[in-house]
Amino acid sequence: MGRQRVGIRGSRPLTAPAPRSYRLPMSPYLRLGVNIDHVATIRNARGGPHPDPVRAADLSVRAGADGITAHLREDRRHISDDDIERLRRIVDAPLNLEMAATEEMLAIALRHRPHAVCLVPERREERTTEGGLDAVSGTAHLAPFIRRLGDAGSLTTLFIEPSAAQVEAAKALGAAAVELHTGAWCHASEQQRPAELRRLVEAARLAASLGIECHAGHGLSYENVGPVAAIPEIVELNIGHFLIGEAIFLGLEESIARMRTAMDLARGTMLAGRAVPPGPPA
Ligand code: PXP
Repeated sequence: MGRQRVGIRGSRPLTAPAPRSYRLPMSPYLRLGVNIDHVATIRNARGGPHPDPVRAADLSVRAGADGITAHLREDRRHISDDDIERLRRIVDAPLNLEMAATEEMLAIALRHRPHAVCLVPERREERTTEGGLDAVSGTAHLAPFIRRLGDAGSLTTLFIEPSAAQVEAAKALGAAAVELHTGAWCHASEQQRPAELRRLVEAARLAASLGIECHAGHGLSYENVGPVAAIPEIVELNIGHFLIGEAIFLGLEESIARMRTAMDLARGTMLAGRAVPPGPPA
């Protein structure tokens, strides 16, 4: 059975039931959001229009992405305002806009009304989002953002560390979802891995028990995605850097197809007839 194509207008919303073929008791369909930031990083290295992240987004959807994720940073180091405008207008898939909780970004989100907004911490000197938001100490600051984004119809996700306190704070704030930062899992040594995975499992269970969606992302690759994809309470993974890097060797469609297969295999929802094996190419 083919995968359901999702479109931003009339699309399958974040909380809609999964397609029938994926409706297994403990393993709801696991969505893949492809983060296209680093296509823009390469484009910006030369200052011209190529390679176009919007073209990458369109190709990603055709290759099996359920949605597109883009981080509009305060310093515009990769994704630009024009990219967001074109993504919204051209790409037929839900857009997950990652942004800092600032008035400038809020105005942009309210103008474009993306399907979802993921609030992330942002520091100019960091190379990438290095840690989760502190929803516990940031409650007073975050609350009006979540309320105003919700009023505009965007689902708000908080990118947090996998801890009970952070999940509970996100729930108290009225966030629609949490995205668990998988960086510590991805960088863990063999000895640290079981503890890091347990943190993700427990945080995901707590989120589900509190009735908020659980997503995960950061640093995921073919090698480390399996155990995270197998956590049944997680319903969405957002993956960028590895997929865009691997596309240099495999092409973007194949890079994404292999991730999709690795996720489906781990989830136990591998569909018959998909030939591409998971893992890095031989
Ligand atoms: N999710 C969030 C909230 C992020 O900030 C990032 C990095 O931009 C990702 C997912 C994707 O991480 P990576 O590029 O390491 O796959």
